[in-house]
Amino acid sequence: MTTPRIDFELKPSAQPLPGAERDAALADPGFGRYFTDHMVTIKWTEGRGWHDAQLQPYAPLSMDPANMTLHYAQSIFEGLKAYRQPDGSVAVFRPDANARRFQRSARRLAMPELPVETFVEACDLLVEHDREWVPGVGEESLYLRPFMFASEVGLGVKPANEYTFMVIASPAGPYFPGGVKPVSVWLSEEYVRAAPGGTGEAKCAGNYAASLVAQAEAAQHGCDQVVWLDAVERRWIEEMGGMNLYFVYGKGADAKVVTPELTGTLLPGITRDSLLTIAADLGYGTEEARISTDEWRRGNEDGSITEVFACGTAAVITPVGEAKSARGTWTVADGGAGEITMKLREALLALQSGRAEDTHGWMHRL
Ligand code: PLP
Ligand code: COI
Repeated sequence: MTTPRIDFELKPSAQPLPGAERDAALADPGFGRYFTDHMVTIKWTEGRGWHDAQLQPYAPLSMDPANMTLHYAQSIFEGLKAYRQPDGSVAVFRPDANARRFQRSARRLAMPELPVETFVEACDLLVEHDREWVPGVGEESLYLRPFMFASEVGLGVKPANEYTFMVIASPAGPYFPGGVKPVSVWLSEEYVRAAPGGTGEAKCAGNYAASLVAQAEAAQHGCDQVVWLDAVERRWIEEMGGMNLYFVYGKGADAKVVTPELTGTLLPGITRDSLLTIAADLGYGTEEARISTDEWRRGNEDGSITEVFACGTAAVITPVGEAKSARGTWTVADGGAGEITMKLREALLALQSGRAEDTHGWMHRL
């Protein structure tokens, strides 16, 4: 069945930020600090479906204090990036995969599903209008943040009868201010991110709110990030705050990269999925498996685990240099950025920035 096309009303009357100010923002974008000149909004109302699709100037929203999202957190989001290509054009990495994950998140939170084509079209429209904001160098990009929240007013606990979908965009430099520097991680045994049957595989706002106290605990232990363990046995490694994890076994051409299998309690990352393919393209073995904290520790001691890294849209690929738990601390291999980690990072970035051929048809060109 083809989805009826939704027509966007264009109201690009924003006073774009003067070029000099935009250039200053692009010179040191950080992460999520500056926002582009426009935003996209689409409404959904029960009985009417999706309507009032608009591109409009970026502006604050006004909200009733009894907006249901503020109370019951029917709120989901996505994160994807647009990259400047060598010929000056712009391409978005796998927007259809984000659109499908957005639909799965919506289903889990009893929200309406936005058609994949509309999600992609909304992202395209914003990037096209704000293309001056796509950085032109290296691994920098324009981070797109599609999101949806309940817009019904009322305090009854039920799925809302009105929702707002939006896309905003923000130029992105490195997610971690230190650049590609190995991070230290805290294995949280007290707090859990997600239990079977919960919302772990949905990208919903509440998952992030619930993670902050564990992130603060990690910081108290001198660590950059928290690593989540499974909720039942507290020994199977799941993922990190906003990233999936990979373990490298062995060295050189015989190496195998292994990522925790999707159990329903971790986010099925699009970077994680892409790296399974890229690693195989580079000739490495790949596997999705359960990995326990004991196995990580043992593998580290006997040298079978040679590298560990985290991956995600915002963070790209970040080496893990040290792990800590209530039961001890260990350095991952020599604590530096591993060779295979950096090879995979370069292969992914080369593909995204158009320096390598897009053999899997992942780059959506505008
Ligand atoms: N895990 C969590 C909890 C995340 O928030 C993210 C970021 O989106 C990821 C993993 C990585 O997913 P992706 O590669 O799709 O960005
Ligand atoms: C992303 O990588 O897109 C994320 O969502 C991680 C974080 C910024 C929440």
